[in-house]
Order: sequence, then structure tokens, then C-alpha cells
Amino acid sequence: MAGRLNAVQDRIREALDRCPRGLVRVISACAGDGRDLLGALAGHPRAGDVRARLVELAPELVEAGHGRAAREQLPGIEFRRGDAAVSDAYAGAVPADILLFCGIFGNIRDAEVRGTIRHLPELCAPRATVIWTRGRFAPDLTPSIRGWFAEAGFEELSFVTIPGSTKSVGAHRLLVAPLPFRAHRVFFTFLPRQQRPSTRSEGGGNGPTEDPPGEGPNGGPGRPTMPR
Ligand SMILES: C[S@@+](CC[C@H](N)C(=O)[O-])C[C@H]1O[C@@H](n2cnc3c(N)ncnc32)[C@H](O)[C@@H]1O
Repeated sequence: MAGRLNAVQDRIREALDRCPRGLVRVISACAGDGRDLLGALAGHPRAGDVRARLVELAPELVEAGHGRAAREQLPGIEFRRGDAAVSDAYAGAVPADILLFCGIFGNIRDAEVRGTIRHLPELCAPRATVIWTRGRFAPDLTPSIRGWFAEAGFEELSFVTIPGSTKSVGAHRLLVAPLPFRAHRVFFTFLPRQQRPSTRSEGGGNGPTEDPPGEGPNGGPGRPTMPR
């Protein structure tokens, strides 16, 4: 996962560098322990400007992330245990300047990837950056995903593939006006592990997936923390 993590952190730092002075609002859906954002903020000059909500179901990961944010003296980082698939999880934290949708698109139906992207402008501030990941296992959905971002009014800032793996990381910026926030919007549902595209691509669930080590079956928690 190191290559993907580094690429996501690079995209976060680039997005922070683009943000005008003042507060920077960040949301992270299915955040895990938040290592992507927390790592990117380490030593970054805008770290103190960030107000972030990281939404994650697994309490162990929420606790681990919360502990790290406290140790690293980042009071603007809020870990929330909740369902990241429902817009209500972001009420009060949006419109966001940076949105992290990493480790999601390989675990939900293709139609829900498209629907999620279509509704992302409801969570965005003007010119917000969305950072996302998806494995390029066959059939590679990433060309469609990049097209769906374009359809939804985003321009592509970058799309990088991670050598030696199927992993890829995209960054898209909203060019059109944001849409009004809608409460109770359901963006996606994590499929049971055996039905996830990322799992099926590996031959039925015994191989590597988009999941980090530490995630249990059906999107639930596994080991208490994810090893680095
Ligand atoms: C593949 S991991 C991604 C973690 C992190 N975003 C990353 O890219 O490394 C997926 C995470 O989503 C969490 N998750 C699954 N369904 C969720 C939901 N409905 N709401 C919040 N978190 C969820 C899992 O517990 C797991 O930590």
C-alpha cells in the first residue's frame, strides 16, 4: 500500500498548496485511521488551517486516528464513527475544499461509483479537489470513472498509476458551481466482501484487495489498528 499512500499524500499536499489563505475544510469518507491525511499534514505549513472530519465505521480505527491526531497536536482533525455513505455524516463539515474518497470505488457497484461522483458537488466548496483511488484490475473502470468526473463538472488534475500494482490515484477539481447539500443522501453501500469488484478480481477473496490490512469481512473492523 506504500506507493498508493504516498501518491494520495502527495495529492493532498498539492491540494493544500492550492488553497487560498484561511481555513481549509477537508472530509474523508471511509477514512480508516486517517493515515493519508495525518501523514500529509505532518510538517505541512497549512496543517493548522485544516478543519477535517474523517468518517469511519470501525471504532478501533477511529480511536487510533483520534489518538494520533491528539499526539500530533492537530485539534482541527475530527474523527467520527459513522456511516460515510450517508450525507448526514458530513453535515456541518461541508462544503469541503478537499474530499478524500480513497479505498471505496473498488468495493461498491459500478453504478454507485457513478452516482457518488454525480452527487459529490453537493459536498464541495467552489474549486474543491476530490482525491480518489481505484484498482485497475480487469475490467478497468478507471477510464469510466474519469469520464464520470468530467460529466459531473470536474477537471482532471492528475491520474497516477502505482508501478508493480493495479492501484491508481486520481485528483479532480470542481469547475462548475457546487450543488446544495442534501441531507439523507445515500451515496453507496459497501458490498459483502465476496461480491466486491476488488475481491472478485483476485479470484474470490483470498488474494489482496483494495482493503488495507486490518479490515474484517463486510467492511467491518478486523485487527484494532492497521500496521504501517
Ligand atoms: C479500503 S479501507 C480505506 C481506508 C482509507 N480510506 C484508505 O484509503 O486507506 C475501507 C474503510 O472503509 C470503512 N467502511 C466501510 N464501510 C463504511 C461506511 N459505510 N462508513 C464508514 N466507513 C466504512 C472500513 O471500515 C475501512 O476502514
